[in-house]
Amino acid sequence: MSRLDSFIRRLEAQRACLNRAAELIHGVDGFVLELGLGNGRTYDHLRELFPNRDIYVCERRVAAHPDCIPPADRLLLGDMFDTLPAAGFLAGRVALAHFDAGTGEAAANRGLAAGLRPLIVPLLRAGGIIATQQAMDCLELDPLPLPDDVAAGRYHLYRRESTTGAARVERLLAWGKKRGYLTYDELNAALPPDLMSSEQIEETMRKLTQLGVKLVENPPNNEG
Ligand SMILES: C[S@@+](CC[C@H](N)C(=O)[O-])C[C@H]1O[C@@H](n2cnc3c(N)ncnc32)[C@H](O)[C@@H]1O
Repeated sequence: MSRLDSFIRRLEAQRACLNRAAELIHGVDGFVLELGLGNGRTYDHLRELFPNRDIYVCERRVAAHPDCIPPADRLLLGDMFDTLPAAGFLAGRVALAHFDAGTGEAAANRGLAAGLRPLIVPLLRAGGIIATQQAMDCLELDPLPLPDDVAAGRYHLYRRESTTGAARVERLLAWGKKRGYLTYDELNAALPPDLMSSEQIEETMRKLTQLGVKLVENPPNNEG
């Protein structure tokens, strides 16, 4: 496949996933968040898809087509590592996040996605969707099927889970079993002591031991 073919397929996958995401958030209130304005192409598409939603846009430095520049009060200007933590008004209120901040370098893109994922996920409301070129597998996100014409791995769609209580513990166990480990942060987020009895926490720890799931401070080999 030539680089031209690959480029075209990536953009087709991107458009198909954004269109699918629009169907998926039908009936889910909330903002749209564009992470990476760039030339403004996908922002323009999102404007067409969501004429009645507020669309917020993150970008380090605006260099978009003049027709595709968001209003100043919808622009989070600066490095996302700074602007996202400061955007408290978005927390739990985003129905769709589109992550398109990568460059041509796969390893750098993976690192960027892994670094920003913990800042993006809390912004999504339960049932909210993230469309992203980089994988963002984590405890809180359910991977969703892609449109038929999008090859596996070319783009990714996830829904923020909305489970509580026992179902949330089951997710934690399944996620730990899949990877063979859990971080203490994941454990603490999934089993908040103020919401779980000490018996429930002990029972979960016992099951994790039975499943051979290790508890670690940091993911091995920067897996994230
Ligand atoms: C691939 S381009 C976006 C393309 C755009 N979605 C489009 O369709 O035209 C990626 C953009 O993300 C921005 N970006 C990358 N990392 C960033 C960060 N940490 N904070 C803010 N913006 C970032 C870059 O400045 C660049 O404009």
